[in-house]
Amino acid sequence: MDGPIITLDRASGLPIGAQLVTALRQGVLDGSLRPGDPVPSTRALAKALGVSRSAVVSAYDQLAGEGYLETRQGAATRVAEIQPLLDPAGGATATAPTAPATAPVPSAPTTERPVEPRINLLPGRPSTSRIDTRAWRAAWRQAAALEVPADSPPLFGVPRLRAEIADHLRHARGLACSPDDIVVTAGTSEALGLVASVVAHLAGRPPLIAIEHPGYPSARRLFERRGARTAPVTVDRDGFDVGALRRLPGRPDAVMVTPSHQYPLGGRLPVSTRLDLIAWARETGGLVIEDDYDSEFRHLGPPLPALASLDDAGRVVLVGSFSKVLTPWIRLGYLVLPPSNRELRAAIAGARDDEACPVPGVAQHAIAELLASGAVRRHIAVSRREYAHRRGLVLADLDGLPGAPLSGLAGGLHAVVELPDAAASAALVTRLASEGVAVAPLSDYSAVLGDERPGIVFGYAAPSDTQLVEGLARIRSAILDGLAGPWPSSPLHPPGSTT
Ligand SMILES: Cc1ncc(COP(=O)(O)O)c(C=O)c1O
Repeated sequence: MDGPIITLDRASGLPIGAQLVTALRQGVLDGSLRPGDPVPSTRALAKALGVSRSAVVSAYDQLAGEGYLETRQGAATRVAEIQPLLDPAGGATATAPTAPATAPVPSAPTTERPVEPRINLLPGRPSTSRIDTRAWRAAWRQAAALEVPADSPPLFGVPRLRAEIADHLRHARGLACSPDDIVVTAGTSEALGLVASVVAHLAGRPPLIAIEHPGYPSARRLFERRGARTAPVTVDRDGFDVGALRRLPGRPDAVMVTPSHQYPLGGRLPVSTRLDLIAWARETGGLVIEDDYDSEFRHLGPPLPALASLDDAGRVVLVGSFSKVLTPWIRLGYLVLPPSNRELRAAIAGARDDEACPVPGVAQHAIAELLASGAVRRHIAVSRREYAHRRGLVLADLDGLPGAPLSGLAGGLHAVVELPDAAASAALVTRLASEGVAVAPLSDYSAVLGDERPGIVFGYAAPSDTQLVEGLARIRSAILDGLAGPWPSSPLHPPGSTT
């Protein structure tokens, strides 16, 4: 590479690191940096631009996390061997699927009885096949070799892990936070339970928590199980209706949103709505719970900063998880508390004082080591490329089917196909189940009885390429058969399919 043409505008007020990221990313997107090109060493680029080396290191780290650069120990950092994932015109991904778009589909099902899924396309499952097992084992060996303390882990988590999580968020999410703001949790579920109990404690009564409709069903159930009342606010592809939140009877104590990748529909909240949500929180004293569950995997459009990074009111709590980034097997997540909200911090400390930190210290050390070694960052980069490829397979098979719009693919690990009506959804889910393909009905995500959207939700990360190609082909044929009509009426509904 001759050296990227980077012009820094020191008068713009934009951080130098962010300007570097934007310039280098643009270079990859417009082809002036080609796949395989080595980029200058951090020292050389820092010297050439007259900036600190740490700014360049951070920029390279972020771009590696986003999948634009490839870092390998002992070798030069290079532009990743991929087509740009981002179509600057905002159209579909430029990633070329490498597997056949359609696979032969055996004849129609012979039985309506659901069978054990051969092809599990239920959403929420990441790909674990590329986890660097050497780094994984080394991290656990190191953690196991540490002295065994006679105490519980610190209430907010092991300091080293909190520092590594803060560092991870800076690189992967552009979120500047201090290790002091991090609370280590046993995944999102425990984090949400903790927040719900603290909101109840602060309110002095069972709280009212506004939730997205459709939204994350486990969160709704979890809040209700902790005695909270939930108030659904309808979301569509354009996002969350803050006006409807304001109009809710009874002022909610908190609202939970998925601003980076609405679950399950897949939209992302525009900046104006984000600011409006923060204004709502400031006006009412409500808390915004930002479920940032899969935003490391953005496929289309630049990653939007976390809602928490706009919070000047001390009212946004970010909830993150390693369930998508690594695996739900480790049950590890975190809260990022707004630094200025001392009342919230004290209430969380109070709850933890009684309940203790639920994540074993040895697991915290192992994940801290995995983060520190760069294995997590590399895994995110590898997974992002793999998911972008899978996303290409989904688009190739299911995009543009008349009457069955595909959506939700700008980021993450799942997609949605909307269908004409509830009978079509039920028939499709049942037919697929009888063929050994598990998908979730979109109706499972409804927070309002009687207002279920017709469609299906399916994950494309965990199955093998071959399984995915067959699963997609079966979804396609079933939809085409159904659209040719009539959809076979079917009362069957595979139970317990949605998380
Ligand atoms: C919307 C949403 N948030 C968060 C999570 C992660 O949950 P946990 O960390 O409890 O595994 C998931 C997992 O499927 C999810 O779908």
